Amino acid sequence: MVRSPGRINLIGEHTDYNEGFVMPAAIDRSIVFAVGFSTEPDGSLYSVKHDELVRFDINNPKITEHLWPNYLLGVVRQFVDKGYSLKPIHCVVDGDVPTGAGLSSSAALECGFAFALNHLHSFNIPKLELIHMAQWAEHHYVGVKCGIMDQFASMMGIEGKAFVLDCRSLSYHYFPIDLKDYSIVLCDSMVKHSLASSAYNKRREECEEGVLILKQHYHHIKSLRDATIDMIETHRGEFTEKVYNRCTYIVQENQRVLAAADDLEKGDLKSFGQKMYATHDGLSKLYQVSCPELDFLVDQSKKFEGVLGSRMLGGGFGGCTINIVLKTKADSFISTLRHAYQRNFQHEMNSYVVEVKNGTSIIDPATLNDTTIL
Ligand code: GLA
Repeated sequence: MVRSPGRINLIGEHTDYNEGFVMPAAIDRSIVFAVGFSTEPDGSLYSVKHDELVRFDINNPKITEHLWPNYLLGVVRQFVDKGYSLKPIHCVVDGDVPTGAGLSSSAALECGFAFALNHLHSFNIPKLELIHMAQWAEHHYVGVKCGIMDQFASMMGIEGKAFVLDCRSLSYHYFPIDLKDYSIVLCDSMVKHSLASSAYNKRREECEEGVLILKQHYHHIKSLRDATIDMIETHRGEFTEKVYNRCTYIVQENQRVLAAADDLEKGDLKSFGQKMYATHDGLSKLYQVSCPELDFLVDQSKKFEGVLGSRMLGGGFGGCTINIVLKTKADSFISTLRHAYQRNFQHEMNSYVVEVKNGTSIIDPATLNDTTIL
């Protein structure tokens, strides 16, 4: 059995596929897999949540019309394409990472399954390669051209620690999350806009458009990681308004992640929280990946004493906000926002107070009890 967690990201949104910086951590919500060799010729996948069984050819896993198996089948495809000889397996999957909440249930699915197949067959594939295989599955079997952050965080998380990841070199360093009297509260808007994945891919293209413009003047530029605000301003006339805004946000956000890491090192949580608000502002106005529900939740948080910062989390267009809230105020924060949200949108808001936990790992049977594995 394998457990693979969802993730949060403290700051650094949409920077990963621009070869920039992110600051994620794995959380205490996971996808859990029970995987074993099968005596049947086919592989089988069973989702407890969907109560669906899917059979597949272990040597030729094809995309299905259901979404959930594709995350796993894409991983199988990577093993096959890389020349690993897989034996038929059966797998049962369940979990408590909410889907569509921006907590990367998809990366948890991909990473956990890649980890399980690797372990079961004793292939000894390094974790970094498993991360890339998981990302490939998302690109080619799900159709989202995601960056590397989610898979990295799900696989590499360490209890009590966040890390700054340089998405170009893939170097990273862990640091203890010391939020003192504050906790991490996620407010789930419970909305998921159906165009989210195509809009995500579009943002990626718009950033590439910006790189092409800058490259004509600055040959060393390979991605927005290499760009500066000065460069963008100097050639502003060559950008459409939209691409100008997208590029400006990314360059600012990369700077913010590095400055935010300094804040955390100094224990300056207040300044860190201000940066979260600035990130949200950029995501909402310049990058345009927020939505009225998320903007509302962030605005409400500003009115509440005991909140240091708030912003939308993950790809956007729905899902959660991440909030740094005084522990003693967390309950009243949640109920205040829930009521306000209900009044404004006639829609339920959900909430999760999350802890930072280890990344993908084998479940020790000794830790299981009779009734629950989660
Ligand atoms: C999604 C993607 C990540 C990242 C975030 C935005 O979660 O999977 O790669 O781009 O959106 O930061």
